[in-house]
Amino acid sequence: MQHIEINKILTSKPSTIEITVKGWVRSFRSNRFIALNDGSTIKNLQCVVDFENFDEKLLDKITVGAAIAVTGVLVESLGQGQDVEVQVEKIEILGEADPEEVKLTILSPKRHTLETLREQAHLRIRTNTFGAIMRVRSKLAFAVHEYFQKNNFHYFHSPIITGSDAEGAGEMFRVSVLDPKSPPLNESGEVDFKQDFFEKESNLTVSGQLEAETYAMGLGKVYTFGPTFRAENSNTSRHLAEFWMIEPEMAFFDLDANMDLAEDFIKYVVKFALDNCADDLEFLENRLLQEEKNKPQAERSEMTLRDKLNFIIENNFKRVTYTEAIDILKRSKPNQKKKFKFLIDEWGADLQSEHERFLVEKHFKCPVILFDYPAKIKAFYMRLNDDGKTVRAMDVLFPGIGEIVGGSQREERYDVLLEKMKAMDISAEELYWYLDLRKFGTCVHSGFGLGFERLVQFVTGMGNIRDVIPYPRTPGNAEF
Ligand code: 4AD
Ligand code: MG
Repeated sequence: MQHIEINKILTSKPSTIEITVKGWVRSFRSNRFIALNDGSTIKNLQCVVDFENFDEKLLDKITVGAAIAVTGVLVESLGQGQDVEVQVEKIEILGEADPEEVKLTILSPKRHTLETLREQAHLRIRTNTFGAIMRVRSKLAFAVHEYFQKNNFHYFHSPIITGSDAEGAGEMFRVSVLDPKSPPLNESGEVDFKQDFFEKESNLTVSGQLEAETYAMGLGKVYTFGPTFRAENSNTSRHLAEFWMIEPEMAFFDLDANMDLAEDFIKYVVKFALDNCADDLEFLENRLLQEEKNKPQAERSEMTLRDKLNFIIENNFKRVTYTEAIDILKRSKPNQKKKFKFLIDEWGADLQSEHERFLVEKHFKCPVILFDYPAKIKAFYMRLNDDGKTVRAMDVLFPGIGEIVGGSQREERYDVLLEKMKAMDISAEELYWYLDLRKFGTCVHSGFGLGFERLVQFVTGMGNIRDVIPYPRTPGNAEF
């Protein structure tokens, strides 16, 4: 007999045809009602058991966490919360779960903190919260591909292992098969990478951008969507050592076109989640409402999760230059009691996340795209403006998140790029291939990077980035 997923069953009409449903027991009430979940939806299927018809020993094995198969017919449900339920005729125990052992895990039916769930990352997907988050994550990944494919972008697979270390985006993880305890040394006493598998010092990529640029110069519009790595020792609710990044790169796009694309893309994927993840978002919204209730009245958000998502879709992102933003920050009064305690004093300073969040949450009260940053605080490849001191960089800033996108128009002028590389001590020899693009048919081009987990965080309303990726990699955390 064919196994049918619970999300399909719940929208089916009652029928006399026998079906078999498999899943994990969420609860078994009064020896009569089994709530069964198979991961296809946040909703459980109610299975009604006439216990007189079953062996007691079998019924004892229907415990929380056990995997079972029930066979029966779908009938109209008189109970609340569902239209149909299964009138059970046969039960098969597929995998038992000892209640005494379950009690010691997060499978036990009581409220567990997110911290506790993180400690049992291999089991947390069985909870409603993680089921909802990971289904939304999967749908968002689909939406990313759908958006770019519909808009004539080509999916480009950037390498994970790379010899280039000039992106300047952050510290890198080194990849080597040399014995770290006694690596072979050259005559000058340095590690001799010539003897390594890759014959060169190599790293895990921090960004696929530079390689994506090479492909945009042949395919026109490309995007990457894959894991990237940053070996920065930052323990925040927004940073991971391994995260997924989406990086579109487009020939013939200037910074304005780049900003238009970022805004349109974000709106598309957020709308996709609203349209396709209704049940999961409703659950996550209620979860957040509970959290809000525990906060003092003054700190409670007036907007629900879905209000926030609709707000993104319905409002234009405010576009502001770095210089304007600094003026606003300079004028704003620091508030010693609240979280915005800063004053930014001079032009040229990098914005901290508290500045970004002030601009978005307190000043403009909408998503903001900051652009034209000082050249000194941005990467070498960004196009220099005529003022000689700012570059065509853009960051998209989101409420509750801060920076969600970082991008720029790229420096397409060979001489200017070379000059910049020299000034920033970046080897032209190593990046000859990158410079080549400016020799053979160079053109205006742009791109950006969106941190996928920050997007998932925003859409699910989760406060900590560790809770939107199956196995978070953070300092001291790579158990399995
Ligand atoms: O601003 P970043 O460093 O930009 C780049 O890597 C460019 N090469 C992108 C491009 O133009 N193609 O990173 C881009 C985005 C950030 O805005 C943020 O959303 C996310 O990647 N990000 C992180 N997400 C999680 N953990 C980290 N450690 C992250 N670092 C960056
Ligand atoms: Mg950035």
